[in-house]
Amino acid sequence: MKHRLFTPILLVMIMLASSCQNGETSVTSPDGRIRFEISMQDGTPAYTVSKDGETILDHSALGFTLKGEDSPMAFTNAELIGTDAKDETWEQVWGEDRFVRNNYNEMTVRLSESGEAARKVDVIVRVFDDGFGFRYSFPEQESLKEFAIAEENTSFNLGKDLMTWWLDRSEPYYEGYGLNTPVSQVDTAQTPFTIDAGEGRYYAIHEANLTDYAKMSLTLDGENTLRAVLTPWSDGTKVYTSAPCVTPWRTMIIADSIGGLAASKIMLNLNEPCVLEDVSWVRPGKYIGIWWTLHKDFYTWYYGPRHGATTEQTMRYIDFAAENGISGVLVEGWNKGWDGNWMKNSTGFSFTEAYPDYDFDKIMKHASAKGVQMVIHNEYAANTEHYFSQIHDAYKLYSSYGMHYIKTGNVNLLMDGKEEHDGQYAVNRRRQIVETAAQYQICVDEHEPAMPTGIHRTYPNLMTYEGIRGQEHDAWEPTGGNKPEHQTVCPFIRGLAGPMDYTFGTFDFSNPNYPFCRVMTTLAKQLAQYVVIYSPLQMASDDPYAYEGKKAFDFIKDVPCDWHESHVLDAVIGDYVITARRDRNSEDWYLGAITDENARELSVSLAFLEPGAEYTAQIYADGPDASYENNPESVTYSELTVTSSDNLDMSLATSGGCAVRFVKK
Ligand code: NOJ
Ligand code: CA
Repeated sequence: MKHRLFTPILLVMIMLASSCQNGETSVTSPDGRIRFEISMQDGTPAYTVSKDGETILDHSALGFTLKGEDSPMAFTNAELIGTDAKDETWEQVWGEDRFVRNNYNEMTVRLSESGEAARKVDVIVRVFDDGFGFRYSFPEQESLKEFAIAEENTSFNLGKDLMTWWLDRSEPYYEGYGLNTPVSQVDTAQTPFTIDAGEGRYYAIHEANLTDYAKMSLTLDGENTLRAVLTPWSDGTKVYTSAPCVTPWRTMIIADSIGGLAASKIMLNLNEPCVLEDVSWVRPGKYIGIWWTLHKDFYTWYYGPRHGATTEQTMRYIDFAAENGISGVLVEGWNKGWDGNWMKNSTGFSFTEAYPDYDFDKIMKHASAKGVQMVIHNEYAANTEHYFSQIHDAYKLYSSYGMHYIKTGNVNLLMDGKEEHDGQYAVNRRRQIVETAAQYQICVDEHEPAMPTGIHRTYPNLMTYEGIRGQEHDAWEPTGGNKPEHQTVCPFIRGLAGPMDYTFGTFDFSNPNYPFCRVMTTLAKQLAQYVVIYSPLQMASDDPYAYEGKKAFDFIKDVPCDWHESHVLDAVIGDYVITARRDRNSEDWYLGAITDENARELSVSLAFLEPGAEYTAQIYADGPDASYENNPESVTYSELTVTSSDNLDMSLATSGGCAVRFVKK
């Protein structure tokens, strides 16, 4: 009965939502506010996007130039060939929100050339209430078999010189600061590319499901137009492929608030559902590690008198993790190959053989007995050929001890000495690693990744990524540690692409070997970042010694990294952020507030709490004398009884923060 009623209504809705009149082809969002239209403009196809009648993207280009041809594919016709719609809710294996609504209207428009060898490309468009995604599909056809893409000509014509936040494409491994400029001053930017459209509205251009294709960046092309630039192969070609095939989705979030920008699930919705049948071994968690003290140069990765990865040290970390409910321990420098210039001589790495002072078998057995997962470090210096020669032996060995986590490293700008780290070759090699890891029930924390595009929905064992200017830069950066505004920007550029393995957790701010550099936040801000900067694997990066006897460590022990729901309550990019999240496995809520170099008084409504319920707010705040420059370690703890009708007032020091756990009474 329900089904019979539903079908005709849906059909009428789809017919209303997609139309093709006078050669004009359009589709609107389920709420009718966003409209996406494809039309022929001076003999070439273009798309236009509006919201509430106001233009957001004006006639923007579609299409390709194929290798060996002087000009773009010459489409002369755009025809609507299909429509669809969906409204479903699916459950994440892990994430910022347990349930995700996937609600869109779809149209497929066929672009065709004329003449005898006319070729066709379909554009599949999905419009959501908070933005859109479109992808190209090359159908099977006589006149196009194997081919190579010289240029994807997609553009985004913003029509106005809006303010934007972006990462420069030249930053190695995306480890740069967000830049804040008008569109007209953009050079070549990575996506996510964030646009502050004024009056509280935010847009972000990115891509979803980067599979067997090259990553897209954006370059300024005309006054306010950004054009797609695909990362090339070493021979200059962008993508080698054959029909039938599809491209990644080109996406744009169109949000009415900063919270809406952060909450958008367009990227995840445009990826394929999870392909892993059994995900019982894919578990979010926190990890400590022999890592920060290496970066601070107390110990070395390589074997010698100051070697960090010794059996004794590792045992100390494992015991500390077990005693404090931390599920994982990372150890870097455990394996042979770190001596000399490992970036150049990456074939020296063994992924199964340990240095003589690291008793691999004893350590694995001890961790296993204590219920601790080792996060096994595999730095392969972007030499995938060498890595693949050992990958099965390595993963077999790790899983034989019941270990489910690795951290990979790709330090070297060119993969296999030749190809860029987010070109088609690298994208495919990375996918092979994730798929191979899944076969052995191994979860991956990928450092120096290609920019995430939501593949972690399909392969949730790809749990987190670096691809961010993280805490390691606070150990040795000649220009000093990450500047205080940085973490208030991260959630709104890189963070829109997925989990960030930022690796905070500093309690000891001294840095004797590199005194020109240190973590430029207060301790309370370190805590608040566990809520503000999302990752299902979160590091507590300091040496356990720094945590012993510290009340503030309770927050790190308590804070989950898997959430029922998440909300950015208030933020100004580059100034401050307030985020609240509800634990996936309890009724507790957590709140994190962080600020830039300016001290700030913030007040936030607790309306997100369950109405009528009382909560104990456990508040970790900057001490009255705290400042990131002179007194970062000053932190206070207090408790308050609160309800959803209260406001919480917070005093944040310079580069300070406030972290709160709300326990339901
Ligand atoms: C860079 C990674 O980001 C860092 O976490 C790691 O310690 C080094 N590479 C060594 O692999
Ligand atoms: Ca790095």
